[in-house]
Amino acid sequence: MRTGRMILALLALSASLPALAQAAAPVTATSPDGAIAVEVKIVEDGRVAYSISRKGQPVVTTSRLGFLFTDVAKLDRSLAITGQDVRTSDDTWQQPWGEWRQIRNNYRELKVHLAETVRLKRQFDVTFRIYDDGVGFRYEVPDQTAMHGANIAEELTEFNFASDGTAWWKPAFLWNREEYLYNKTPLSAVATVDTPLTVKLADGTHVAVHEAALVDFSGMALARSQGTSFRAALTPGSGKAKVIKIGSWSTPWRTLIIADNAAGLYTSHLMLNLNEPNKLGDVSWFKPGKFNGVWWNMIKGEWTWARGPKHGATTANVKRYIDFAAANGIPNTLVEGWNVGWDGDWFGDGNAMDFARPTEDFDAAELASYARSKGVRLIGHHETGGSASHYEAQFDKAFKFAADHGEMVVKTGYVTDAAQIERVDPDGSAYREWHEGQWMSNHFIRVAEAAAKYKVAFDSHEPIKGTGLQRTYPNWVAREGSRGMEYNSWSGKNPPEHEANLVFTRMLEGPMDFTPGVLSLTGEKGSAILSTEAKQLALYVVLYSPVVMAADTPENYAQHMDTFKFIRDVPTDWEDTRVLNGEVGDYVTMARKVRGGKDWYVGGIGDEEARSVSFDLTFLSPGVKYDAEIYRDGDDADYRTEKRHSVAIEKRVLTSADKLTLRMAPGGGFAIRLKARK
Ligand code: NOJ
Ligand code: CA
Repeated sequence: MRTGRMILALLALSASLPALAQAAAPVTATSPDGAIAVEVKIVEDGRVAYSISRKGQPVVTTSRLGFLFTDVAKLDRSLAITGQDVRTSDDTWQQPWGEWRQIRNNYRELKVHLAETVRLKRQFDVTFRIYDDGVGFRYEVPDQTAMHGANIAEELTEFNFASDGTAWWKPAFLWNREEYLYNKTPLSAVATVDTPLTVKLADGTHVAVHEAALVDFSGMALARSQGTSFRAALTPGSGKAKVIKIGSWSTPWRTLIIADNAAGLYTSHLMLNLNEPNKLGDVSWFKPGKFNGVWWNMIKGEWTWARGPKHGATTANVKRYIDFAAANGIPNTLVEGWNVGWDGDWFGDGNAMDFARPTEDFDAAELASYARSKGVRLIGHHETGGSASHYEAQFDKAFKFAADHGEMVVKTGYVTDAAQIERVDPDGSAYREWHEGQWMSNHFIRVAEAAAKYKVAFDSHEPIKGTGLQRTYPNWVAREGSRGMEYNSWSGKNPPEHEANLVFTRMLEGPMDFTPGVLSLTGEKGSAILSTEAKQLALYVVLYSPVVMAADTPENYAQHMDTFKFIRDVPTDWEDTRVLNGEVGDYVTMARKVRGGKDWYVGGIGDEEARSVSFDLTFLSPGVKYDAEIYRDGDDADYRTEKRHSVAIEKRVLTSADKLTLRMAPGGGFAIRLKARK
């Protein structure tokens, strides 16, 4: 019996020998500029592996590819490379809104055809898109009988870094989803992490590992196996498989942005380019802009979402917020707790939420017409409490209600612990899903499509990670997905380095609804926020979203109208973005040109250390004079004292020939408006 099996195995091996011999040579391709090279080869036991080098230096060494399935044999050995296709593509497309108008998409594609030489003889491709600033690759599996029932138990993709380095990361699969502070550790001490994982290798090369176009798949975390070696760890599904697939399928793109420095990570367009073009057609109905809203007082515990004596979203309160928005050119006002469903314990259970039924003290029709008369639109909040199926059942009435009341944007929320999303199928069977699982990846596409029918955009809190899908669904305008301003109200506040971490980690995913601008610098019970006032202004330039909140209350802003002027002036839609300097978790300075305009805005943020930064203004148009308004930390500013409010506001005339040196206080920053003279 044993001998018979051995003979069979030998026969199978010899039958496949010609294919193996043919496959022995590795296949390679480089980025258009030749700097990045990808190599794919068959290693021991017929396993397929890739490696990546940049400027001749290894970045990712031999890393295996493959899958475990719940129902059929794994796919990772006895493989041969049966062919390859290489092509180059170079075109430019426009973003309807964003940080850059023009996006160049220039890559070389290497499609590697693979087949099992024995047994099931399954076939698949791995497609690499090699950019001058990184690599994306995905598996493409055609429909084939031997894969029927092939539900994915795990993806075996490895990311074996060539050297140790420093990593900035937050843990994956814990109860508070993506809302953890960043750790800074040696790469060789990282745990199981959410992506993007940002790494500075020993030679200074910066790498960010993430994924693009997460659709109909579960989110990928990274688990360190040993040393500097990582493997994909897919988010669980609610059944035995992490991902369920029928017919032909492909994975999201596994992405590595690779750059000389931190700035180069930020300015990469790889994430957007690896997504499908706009599927929604004309979205010019969505106008980027700021919003204020009935919010910070709830986060501070002074008002409530629920009905009662401290209810925030009353007609009278909302009118005051609309008045403030109108008086200051803010086009939107957020309302939270405007609808029925908040009175019980909504954390983890939103089944009482009705997204078309206002509370008795919120006169929706009156407020819609009041807002309209003042040139303001309401942003309605849809808190699902994680009851995602309950929300889906209301899509039509919810988005119709929003559109009927002049709302261009809704804010959605999924407040429940990780893995506690409630999914109820049409047959009544109920499941608990992860926020980043396959079912939720599809849920968010359903939200995008349902909202688009009513010309409504959305900003999702407690979301799935951002993977560039705003290119395909440009009404998915923002998301939270990290610790935002709200943590500055509570105990355990964001430390001063948090935003300098965000820029080179979370912000690589796309827009974040951070809700900056708390100029009062106070959270609940009068507690101090760990920031200077000038830094709050800088966040409007540094943390991008097409919809940005002026998060403080009208009463608080009334005490800070000199600095509030910057918030009034700063737009939320850009023609161009430059990162002038930066180190992950330490500091960053960004310059952005107004979409369709000539003016520039500059923002700089630091961490807990005081530091000076110098930068030239060569991004400005030569020969043009700019009236500059500089909001910088006062000489005595310090986030640890009452002097956190010390701001120096200076006016200067600057040109592209000028160089600025600005000092940031501990916990500080600066913001500059550069208005071009006609
Ligand atoms: C958490 C969100 O981040 C916050 O903005 C919202 O106000 C609360 N959930 C209530 O939905
Ligand atoms: Ca730091």
